[in-house]
Amino acid sequence: MESFRIEGGVPLSGTVRVDGAKNSALPACVASLLTDEPVVLHRVPELRDVSTILYTLGALGRRVVRHGAHVSIGVGEESSTEADAYSVRQMRASFLVLAPLVARFGRAAVPLPGGCAIGRRPVDLHLTGLRALGARVEERDGVVLVTADRLTGARIVLPYPSVGATEQILMAASLASGETVIENGAIEPEVEDLAALLGRMGAKIEIDGRTIRIDGRRELRGAEHTLIPDRMEAGTFLLAGAITGGSVTVAGVRSEHLTPFLGPLESTGADVTIGVETVTVHGPSRPLPAEVVTAPHPGFPTDLHPPFVAYLALATGSSSLVESVFEDRFAYVDALCKMGAKIVRSGAALTIHGVESLQGQATEATDIRAGAALTLAGLAARGRTTLTHLEHIDRGYSSLEEKLQHLGARIERRDE
Ligand code: UD1
Repeated sequence: MESFRIEGGVPLSGTVRVDGAKNSALPACVASLLTDEPVVLHRVPELRDVSTILYTLGALGRRVVRHGAHVSIGVGEESSTEADAYSVRQMRASFLVLAPLVARFGRAAVPLPGGCAIGRRPVDLHLTGLRALGARVEERDGVVLVTADRLTGARIVLPYPSVGATEQILMAASLASGETVIENGAIEPEVEDLAALLGRMGAKIEIDGRTIRIDGRRELRGAEHTLIPDRMEAGTFLLAGAITGGSVTVAGVRSEHLTPFLGPLESTGADVTIGVETVTVHGPSRPLPAEVVTAPHPGFPTDLHPPFVAYLALATGSSSLVESVFEDRFAYVDALCKMGAKIVRSGAALTIHGVESLQGQATEATDIRAGAALTLAGLAARGRTTLTHLEHIDRGYSSLEEKLQHLGARIERRDE
């Protein structure tokens, strides 16, 4: 089994260039289903999740050509409207193929991600949106079957600004007849990036606050698009610099996308400098405590919650973090406590009593950001940390250990 072996205690320093955003890459690849012309994407990160979505598209009959960070997706010889069960169960984002398939071909069969039931678990908003556009939705044996003649524009008020549901509706509405208005839509930079790609493909989309207007087209064309930088990867490297009391610059970033995270980071005494497409952090010797609540953009990003808690574990006082987006994002907390952190959970809230140091431990990644949190804790801890189940980390970070080595970290990937 592969593992990271981390010898902690080295302040990181240097510059790291971030990749394109995973959460932009996934819907952008899916959007290629909306046209028969090639969609060419640049700055596509080399991640497991991207391989999974490209596999899903290949299984739907798309021809995928990939050269490093450049991916071209076009029409293959045969096409299907039934998504591969394995890849959808691997990764929720594969569920996004529903909208383009039904909008283009009038039919889609996509397994429920993780086998959750319609109405009670988290694809209800995706399906409500598609129904509002005139689609018929049924569930049979864990597979969602959606059929429609031409979708028709509608006004859709989302009870919660779900990223996935907004992306699903954006894609469906781009090929619907007439105008669709999404109220209370998600406005994460990755949603805007999808809107920008759809705009290049010929859709007319306007975003005004949380109101998104889409003027549907009968057909969309191919397009070429460069993905936005990954703000979660950037935030993780900035925290790696801060938690080790080092100085790290992330390059190729859009600092405005990082604002909701940089405010809380600065409040801990970290010195943050914004340059042209760069952000530099000088970590404090120990962070000041902070109070953080995760929220949809422009709130503090839930994906940076676990790494930020790892950082606050070493604060000079007691911090709090409330997770308002996902009800159960705390799988990493026990592992941090085994390393010496003092964290008390009460429902969706954590109280983090800062400690002077953490101790290296044998531990495992349970999801992408939990893996990032434990890697950062290992970089700051005394002694050796061994982290297994790297398949989770590889879903969302490409060559994490190589980039950290480049910043001076003593981390290696071992296979034993
Ligand atoms: C996306 C991101 C993920 C990020 C999340 C929130 C991708 C591939 N993933 O996930 O990294 O953490 O946004 O910024 O872009 N919900 C429902 N019903 C639905 C849909 C969602 O109840 O139909 C709930 C979810 O259970 C969750 C919350 O809404 O509690 C947020 O989910 P959502 O914004 O949809 O996140 P994802 O698109 O799954």
